[in-house]
Amino acid sequence: TIEQRIDSLMAKMTLDDKIGQTAQRGASSRVKGPLPEALKNAVREGRAGSVINVVDIDKVNELQRIAVEESPRHIPLIFARDVIHGFKTIFPIPLGQAATWDADIVEQGSRIAAVEASSVGVRWTFAPMLDIARDARWGRIAESPGEDPYLSSILAKAYVKGFQGDDLSKPNSIAACAKHFVGYGAAEGGRDYNTATIGQQMLYDVYLKPFKAAKDAGIATFMASFNDLNGVPATGNQPLLKGILRNEWKYDGMLVSDWNGVVEMTTHGYARDSSDAAAKAANAGVDMEMASNTYEKNMKALVASGKVSITQLNTLVRDVLRLKFRLGLFDDPYTEQPDGKVILTDASLAAAKKAAIESAVLLKNDNVTLPFAKTVKKIAVIGPLADAPHDQLGTWTFDGDSKDTQTPLIALQNMYGKDNISYAPGLKFSRDRSTDGFSRAVKVTHDADVIVFFGGEESILSGEAHSRADIGLPGAQDSLISALQQEGKPIVLVIMAGRPITLGNVLNKVDAVLMAWHPGTMGGPAIADMLAGIAAPEGRLPVTWPKTGAQEPLYYNHTNTGRPANKQNYVAIDSIPVGAWQSSLGNTSHYLDAGYLPQYPFGYGLSYTMFDYYHLVQDKTVLNMGDNITISAEIANVGEHAGTDVVQLYVQQMVGDVVRPVKELRGFKKISLNPGQKQHVVFTLNTADLAYHNQAMKLVTDPGKYKIWIGKNAAEGLPGSFEINEPVVKAPVKGR
Ligand code: IFM
Repeated sequence: TIEQRIDSLMAKMTLDDKIGQTAQRGASSRVKGPLPEALKNAVREGRAGSVINVVDIDKVNELQRIAVEESPRHIPLIFARDVIHGFKTIFPIPLGQAATWDADIVEQGSRIAAVEASSVGVRWTFAPMLDIARDARWGRIAESPGEDPYLSSILAKAYVKGFQGDDLSKPNSIAACAKHFVGYGAAEGGRDYNTATIGQQMLYDVYLKPFKAAKDAGIATFMASFNDLNGVPATGNQPLLKGILRNEWKYDGMLVSDWNGVVEMTTHGYARDSSDAAAKAANAGVDMEMASNTYEKNMKALVASGKVSITQLNTLVRDVLRLKFRLGLFDDPYTEQPDGKVILTDASLAAAKKAAIESAVLLKNDNVTLPFAKTVKKIAVIGPLADAPHDQLGTWTFDGDSKDTQTPLIALQNMYGKDNISYAPGLKFSRDRSTDGFSRAVKVTHDADVIVFFGGEESILSGEAHSRADIGLPGAQDSLISALQQEGKPIVLVIMAGRPITLGNVLNKVDAVLMAWHPGTMGGPAIADMLAGIAAPEGRLPVTWPKTGAQEPLYYNHTNTGRPANKQNYVAIDSIPVGAWQSSLGNTSHYLDAGYLPQYPFGYGLSYTMFDYYHLVQDKTVLNMGDNITISAEIANVGEHAGTDVVQLYVQQMVGDVVRPVKELRGFKKISLNPGQKQHVVFTLNTADLAYHNQAMKLVTDPGKYKIWIGKNAAEGLPGSFEINEPVVKAPVKGR
């Protein structure tokens, strides 16, 4: 067995050999040119367990040969890389993939990424990021599965299955990594790396949920997060890493720190020096140190002094070796040149295009501006992101190449003919404030039937350490749209961005808005197909879309106050622009100058067709503990196009032992219907599905009243309700 093989290897390993396995080495982005001698020597001397950011098959094999043939214990290396939403074939950013609400497409995307990355020897990715994100100012929301724990948990499993395949030891499987454990997405104020304060119930019922789902799906590795959680940096947080991950969840995989995460505990003010940081991380169970070298420098002394026991060090090393055995690296350490083409294949590009279509969210479509009518022959393409091959790829695309990217400008030229597309970016980049390009942009619209403005933010404005305080359209985009508006032609705004972008008055200046996220390699053809009506956008928001960044954090599944704002006391909801003062919404929870509602709710997205929801049916209204309830509705396509909808089930527990969210997603189904077609959509819930953590931190389902909705998004739906009976307490049996 693997454990026996680890035993016999461990028996031969010296203290130095063991410490060597806990180190991850490499470069911060990519090892370029010939392999550095220092890296080769470290591998030769057994001072490396893993190498990060070497992505050239020859260099991978050269280092592997040194490890296997020349290092003291001949232990193979594991090569790691951030393969986040594709290796060469780039899929939409993870937030965009979450907007597909489609586990199959997410699994397919991560499978393609695994096949491509493993073909050059990468066997470990630092994905999926499973941080629940409720604040669009946070730059890394782009890499998150959004704000909902239920949707995120389903996608977490799909990512694991895609990356790891059905057998981790196959050469084209790569170990996935659940990151960042935990609370990184709850950074105060949306400022990256910031402190996270999360109560116990919320920790378990929201933030830990997708991680638990990934663990249950067999994820091979976890990464500790940079942030402190309730005052203790995650990297040295014993209750979290030992208590929850190892003891409660019985996780036996590998745990890596984030980049310099161990040494940064000194900057946090949680460790006195590098030795103290190493001891705290090792004793919390961090198996491998990324980038910083506090283990290498201090572990011998720490073991000698007993500050880290040899048993604890052995545990860390066993976890590292176990991963290598699981990946089959001891039996098959080298990477073979693939036989045929595995990178950017036609099938991968088709899947990436499908994902971009499924992820695109139609936010507004007045006067059926989209899809273009047959009478639309000439199109003016404007905006800084119309032809920005690198920027449409999104954050964390180290290996995606702009030359493989197809932009909307090129795709529209291919589709409508070059002569029918007039193009002027108007602005050089999204933050450009210069109006120099405006007159040319306006001029090229003169012959056009419709104007398509490609705006938003470049890749670099979202992602790690790229938080924004104002999440509106940057630069002079708003002014350029105003200038275009003077032409009196229909305007379609296509947004490419890593987060929801607040639109303010822009919304009134355009006829249609399509949120494309950063759509990846095939974003251009996907968008062209959607504009032309060859395909229809299918996405639904995986995050609440605010009116202003000042409303953040804003999420649908919040708990109630004693004084909630509601539609009764909120007059003329839609007509009040941000910044216009309210006279009063009463003594309720709201902003005087922004109200309380978002621009668009969680789960929202329009179609080219219309869906009617009717006839909610429940098989019961009263349940006993342990019962199932089935809830169904009829969904009809009453429009003129075929279309796809995501039917969503929400539940509210009316009274709890702690206050409960006003709504929680408990199920969804994606359905496709032709015009005139209808479908009976059925959900089954068990009382156990309603469980939450009570004051005593017990996972319980309470008796009492529950409301339910089947709807198109978190703000509307067909209502129902049920009650769960108090459990019957059996009377003690009398007698003898
Ligand atoms: O995987 C990433 C992590 O998400 C942020 N810090 C660096 C790691 C490795 O590149």
